[in-house]
Formats: sequence, structure tokens, C-alpha cells
Amino acid sequence: MNLKPLLLTLSIAFPVFASDNQELEVLHWWTSGGEAAAVDSLKQKMKEEGRPWKDFAVAGLAGESATNTLRIRALSGNPPDVAQIKGPEIQEWGTAGFLTDLNDIAEEQRWSRLVPSRVADYLKVNDKFVAVPFNIHRVNWLWANPEIFEKAGAKLPETLDDFFVAAEKIKTAGYIPLALGNEPWQETTLFESIALAVMGSDQFRKAFIEGDSEALSSDKLRESLEIFRRMKQYTDADAPGRNWSDTTSLVIEGKAAMQMMGDWAKGEFIAAKKQEGTDYVCIPAPGTANQFSFNVDSFVFFKNGDPDTIKSQKALATLILEPEFQKEFNLTKGSIPVRVDMDMTDFDGCAQQSMEAFLRAAATDNLVASLSHNMAIGRASQIAMFDVISRFYENDNVDINETMRHIRAAVLADKL
Ligand code: GAL
Repeated sequence: MNLKPLLLTLSIAFPVFASDNQELEVLHWWTSGGEAAAVDSLKQKMKEEGRPWKDFAVAGLAGESATNTLRIRALSGNPPDVAQIKGPEIQEWGTAGFLTDLNDIAEEQRWSRLVPSRVADYLKVNDKFVAVPFNIHRVNWLWANPEIFEKAGAKLPETLDDFFVAAEKIKTAGYIPLALGNEPWQETTLFESIALAVMGSDQFRKAFIEGDSEALSSDKLRESLEIFRRMKQYTDADAPGRNWSDTTSLVIEGKAAMQMMGDWAKGEFIAAKKQEGTDYVCIPAPGTANQFSFNVDSFVFFKNGDPDTIKSQKALATLILEPEFQKEFNLTKGSIPVRVDMDMTDFDGCAQQSMEAFLRAAATDNLVASLSHNMAIGRASQIAMFDVISRFYENDNVDINETMRHIRAAVLADKL
């Protein structure tokens, strides 16, 4: 369903939203240990500036619950002052006229020079910035517990074939080889890493972004789906409904050997005071060392008629790209700074590896917008894609040919 006409009508009906108190209401979904610690650093900085923050955190499904709540609030004429939105959805809200133009701050802080252009493109509507970015998350990571690998006599997997060899050994040694929670977005995150490895960046983009029929009916897509299903035997019986951070905890607590998840997982290891290298290691998802599936978090600012709220919104927008905050936030969150001019010396090994991988991928055309994290496709496609991928994974009777046809329909849903 295309919501654009409805959004446009409502933006005309409610052009100015006056707030009833001085607090800045911020809607986000950063509620896990690592996420909350990261957003706390922002709340603290706002407090130091004398600008009270009213937290409106909606947990669940990597933002799907928060995004649904935002829609209900905004469509009834009562949006929060600030909201976490990313990817193509920024365009949807921006073109419907809901978002504050941030170009004055962008010019003052020279965002066009600081932020990579592939990222900046997402943040603009009619060539004007309407969203401020926090970070760059890499989605195609594998997080491993090295002690389990050692006990099982297994080797960290560089390829998908290596993965299955290691998983067998780990299973025999009595551990869960692969930690996964059966939520559609977590399953799609795993599928994304497999598809990147099997299809390569070019075919991946053709299939999932361009909706190219050849790529969407290719043997490589079929193979990706087969491998995805084969991984299920290495997950545990408690996977249904388990959230991502409880899933990461299985690796932290030495129950599971691996999780394929974006680097917000690192925030959980850090919050649990674990040491990189000894307690956990990060390696690229098998077969994707040269690729970088990117996911950029950002805030948008809803139009508001209250001068004090506007000042607080601008203060917040300005803070996010300041170098000191970029360092503090990203060290806790697990991502890398979105500013290209940052000194990475004080960052951990995973972050340094991520920055190198980002630059290398950008230079070799291996930067890919994340399919599972609302960067590659708009909302209509995203909902359909989660549904198709999850049904295929969770039910062995779902036919692979039918799934490939449904994936195609999901990609095209946005283009209707
Ligand atoms: C992603 C978001 C990350 C992380 C993750 C899990 O969509 O970009 O910042 O928080 O969800 O909640």
C-alpha cells in the first residue's frame, strides 16, 4: 500500500505542531544494553546543554515496532519532536512534508564534506538535508566465541564451506553452533550475508535493489536459499521469538559459538565487559571479506511551531556530528563514525577492521545497502521481504521456486 498520498494530505492538514512542554520528545528503538548505553551519552550531552530529553523508546524487531508507533502518532497529527528513521523511509516522510530542513546546520558543519556521498544521498530530499546520520554499521559480520572453537577443535570460517565444517564439530562438542532468534528481520539478516557471499555484490544489487528478473531467477539466488535453510539444523530449539540481544548473550555466555549479526552486537559484548580477541572475535560473515553491507542510523526532526523546541531540535542535530560525540557514541554502539575525517587510533580492532573494509569496499564497488535493515528497499517491499524469507526458513514445505517468485514480487512492491 502506498501511503504517500495519505501522508501528504495529513502534512497539509497539520502543518505546524506545537509542543505542550519544553522537553524534546525523542522516539527511538535503542533499548538493549549496548544501545541504551550509546543513546545515554547523547541524553547526557543534551542535559549538559540544559535541554531536557523526554525518552520515547519502543523496543522490538530492529525498529519495526518503533516505526509503526511513529506512523500512528504522526498520522494522528501528534508526532514526536525527533524520531529515528533511516534509508528510503526518510524520502517518504520528507517528500510528504513532515520533516525540518537541516540545511543551515549542514552548511555550517560542512556535512557534504564530512559524510560519504553514498550515505549523504539517503539524508536529502530535493538536495536538502532532512536527516542527521550517527554512524555506519556493517551488517555482514560473524561474532564468535573463541573458547568454544578451541574446545571443539574448529577453525573460524572464512567461507560458507568452512562454516558447515566448523558447525558440525561444534555440534558434536555439545554447543549451539549458530545463535539465531526466529524473528523475520534476524532471519533476513542471516540470509543477506549468505546471499552476498553466493551472489556477489553486483548480482545482489541487481536482484534486491533493481528487481532485475534475471538475477531474481538465477541459480545463485536458489543456492543462497538452499544454504540458508541448511543452516537451520545448527540453531537451537529456543530460537522462536528470541530477540537479537538475548541471542548475542548465548555467544557471550559460552552457550553458542557464532552469531551472524551487524556490529551493534559488539555493543552487547562491550556492555558485558568482554574483551575482544579473548572473549569474542569478529570476522566478516563467511565469503564476504571484501564486501560491506551498510546500515546508517539517523534522526529526523518533525516540523514544530514552538521556538524553544526548534532550538532544542537544532542543538541535538548539531551535537550528533561533533567529533567528540562521534567517538563516544560509536565506541559504545559498535558502529564506525560517519565522519570521514576521524582518527581511528582509539577505536578497537573490530572498528578499525570495519573502517578499512568500508574504504576498500567503496573503492572496489562492493558497498551494498543493507537488505534487512531498511536501506535497500522501501517499507512496502521490506515488510513483504521479511515475510517471504521468514516463511521459507521456518517451514520446510515452502517451495523454493515459489519463494523466488515471491521475492521478486516483494522487491517490486515498492515500484508499484
Ligand atoms: C538496526 C539499527 C541498529 C541496531 C539494530 C538492532 O536496525 O540500525 O542501530 O540498533 O537495529 O536494534
